[in-house]
Amino acid sequence: MAASEATFTGPALRVTDIGTLAAVPPGPLTGAQMRSIPIIRDAVLLIENRRIAWFGPAAEAPAADAIPALSAAGGCLIPGLIDPHTHIPFAGERSGEFVRRIGGESYLSIMQSGGGIRVTTQAVRQASRDELVRLNLPRLRRMLSLGTTTVECKSGYGLAPEHELKQLRAIRGLDLLQPIDLVPTYLGAHALPVEFDGRADEFIDTIASEQLLSEIAREGLARFCDVFCDRGAFTVEQARRVLQRAAAAGLKPKLHADELAQIGATLLAGELAAVSADHLELIDEGGLAALKAAGAVAVVLPGTSFFLGIPHCDARRLIEADLPVALATDCNPGSSMIESLPLIMNIAACQLRMLPLEVLSACTANAAAALDLHKRRGAIARGFDADLVVLDTPSLEEWFYTPGRPRVQTVIKRGEIVYERSDDGAA
Ligand code: NIG
Ligand code: FE
Repeated sequence: MAASEATFTGPALRVTDIGTLAAVPPGPLTGAQMRSIPIIRDAVLLIENRRIAWFGPAAEAPAADAIPALSAAGGCLIPGLIDPHTHIPFAGERSGEFVRRIGGESYLSIMQSGGGIRVTTQAVRQASRDELVRLNLPRLRRMLSLGTTTVECKSGYGLAPEHELKQLRAIRGLDLLQPIDLVPTYLGAHALPVEFDGRADEFIDTIASEQLLSEIAREGLARFCDVFCDRGAFTVEQARRVLQRAAAAGLKPKLHADELAQIGATLLAGELAAVSADHLELIDEGGLAALKAAGAVAVVLPGTSFFLGIPHCDARRLIEADLPVALATDCNPGSSMIESLPLIMNIAACQLRMLPLEVLSACTANAAAALDLHKRRGAIARGFDADLVVLDTPSLEEWFYTPGRPRVQTVIKRGEIVYERSDDGAA
């Protein structure tokens, strides 16, 4: 649509002087699609009514002089980054465990000796809803400055109905206080709290009661239900029970699968047609086929393997098998105290051998698919939410070539400029 003043019904903006426009198409993207993103040089993008109204070569742009302009100064324009797996909000920190792991202990052995998730559960139970909001707001502000515009947030540290609800309500509070869109997931079956030792099935009945699940769904406190289905966490049978009940209440299934041991969790993800299966460091051929048949998104979390010092997921194998691969931070105080999607993107490129365009697809179109948002977010397409990031690099290759250097210049959320870097990036 040609932009004219009479048609403006909301924030309108024109992004000019775009050196490289990465026109990511709507997801889910698989196989070669992930690395076949159309690139438009010397481009313009028009935003009307908070959505993308037009994009293309500057020479073909409709006249839109009345619309305020933002110059990309020759940099890249990409879709806003989407982080489809985090454990925000949490309280406390576990740097002691981090150092113990560097010294040779494993995540599982630390968990089995009383550390791990239970430590964070104590801190979260002691915190009020408002404290959880106050502690996690700066985290989201930092994520915004790194180009992240949508974040999935899980409960899972309360491990009792009242504290799980408190965490979900903190997510709702955080959503209202800052520009990033938060997508809430209920992860009541994350770990067995100490008071239920030896009584896992009773715990499952408590955190997956029909009453609690329907309250969560009715109040819109979660869109998804996730279970940590792994050795040291919950069995396939227990996860099935939780996710079936959650689905009946209207919460779509997700799974933490194949991270610490191969117990058949991805087979369950396939059986339940999960929206996504996440982690997958130890996925086998059966799991791969199950995810493909179910159309589930494979969410790879290389920050976790980096942070824990365990072998990475073989993301190339997943891409070659035509699974839509997404990437996420898994931001949590135990296994990935990482807020930065750009850092995850660098690990994926340098260590998982994912090409820059594959990584970009994984953090935009496919991350949107992992949250069931791919019809309106994660792509540069007409009518899609105008969530965009301007980088100060003329090419995407150069962004990936300079790990650790902040290159996000401007962040646009639904057509509004919500972050601008104050310095000129000069070092
Ligand atoms: O995704 N794997 C299970 N849960 C988190 C870790 C949570 C924690 O250690 O606090 C994860 O890695
Ligand atoms: Fe996780």
